[in-house]
Amino acid sequence: MSARGITVRGCGISVPDKVLTNEDLSATLDTSDAWITERTGIKERRVGGITSQMAIEAGRRAIQDAGLEPADIAVVLLATTTPDALVPATSATVQAGIGVPGGAFDLNAACSGFVHGLVAAAGLVAVGSGRVLLIGADALSRITDWDNRTMAVLVGDGAGAVVVEPAEGTGDLLSWNFGADGTLRHLLKCDHGGYLTMDGKEVFRKAVRVVVESAERALADAGFTAADVSLLVPHQANLRIIQAACHRLGIPEERTAVVIDRYGNTSSASIPLALDDALRSGRVSTGDLVLLTGFGGGMTWASALLRWGR
Ligand code: UT7
Repeated sequence: MSARGITVRGCGISVPDKVLTNEDLSATLDTSDAWITERTGIKERRVGGITSQMAIEAGRRAIQDAGLEPADIAVVLLATTTPDALVPATSATVQAGIGVPGGAFDLNAACSGFVHGLVAAAGLVAVGSGRVLLIGADALSRITDWDNRTMAVLVGDGAGAVVVEPAEGTGDLLSWNFGADGTLRHLLKCDHGGYLTMDGKEVFRKAVRVVVESAERALADAGFTAADVSLLVPHQANLRIIQAACHRLGIPEERTAVVIDRYGNTSSASIPLALDDALRSGRVSTGDLVLLTGFGGGMTWASALLRWGR
């Protein structure tokens, strides 16, 4: 089959109903709304989610938003760090729940999973797969020690999905890159049956550096500069990381998608949650340059530059 480019069509999200505010956390932990807001930008988060359920709902909404039916999807690709179980793959539960006739597999690259998934979906499309339903879904609340204030104030649950479909010519994905450094495993981890732990300061430092390098490389590879970017959609881990990266890249915050105040860090879901918000607010027009960039445990990082097609 001939190689094809991709276009991103349709977007949908799902978050649990239960809202946990900074005030709620301050009632049980030695923290405060002032500290959390100032150090992270987070005001509230959603908790109590189940990865497959959120992924099914977000996936259905993305298919509907694209004006398609589940039968039009060939592959379900689920980026997640918090599968429902080790076996079976959560994507199979999602495939059955939505009623997609095709294949399904999970991908774990921690918080950069969605960007890895977008590029993997483009690869599938290029070898003739047909449409891929790409979902980023995580229930970090399930692997969080709610007595550990360092982690508890940061995390939230959610899911976001897009349909990635074949396009004429080279399509909308202009450039991409992946990075990983497994020697940094200790900075952010969760062993089987355990809770998330993190060296916050080191993750912060490293995150700003890799995000900037990765984003600049994606721009350079496609022959653009930061001035050409219409919208930056970064992983939402900490508002100060986003601000530091924007500053170093030279992209003003007005051209950056931020939803961390409402959702906290939702890992694989954070980029599609931010993208969906930007789309619904009319912040993305046909022809815009949209730069997605993420980092996470591993450490891993990834960027993808899109010329928005629809
Ligand atoms: O998806 C990727 C995953 N994670 C990240 O990207 C997170 C990266 N790191 C961060 O976002 C930040 O490092 C944190 C938000 C985790 C911490 O912010 P910080 O500005 O690096 O604070 P800190 O660790 O330097 O702590 C400053 C102070 C300390 O008190 P002292 O020693 O100055 O008296 C901490 O004990 O704040 C204290 N502290 C808190 N106070 C209230 C630490 N956590 C809290 C808390 N509430 N939750």
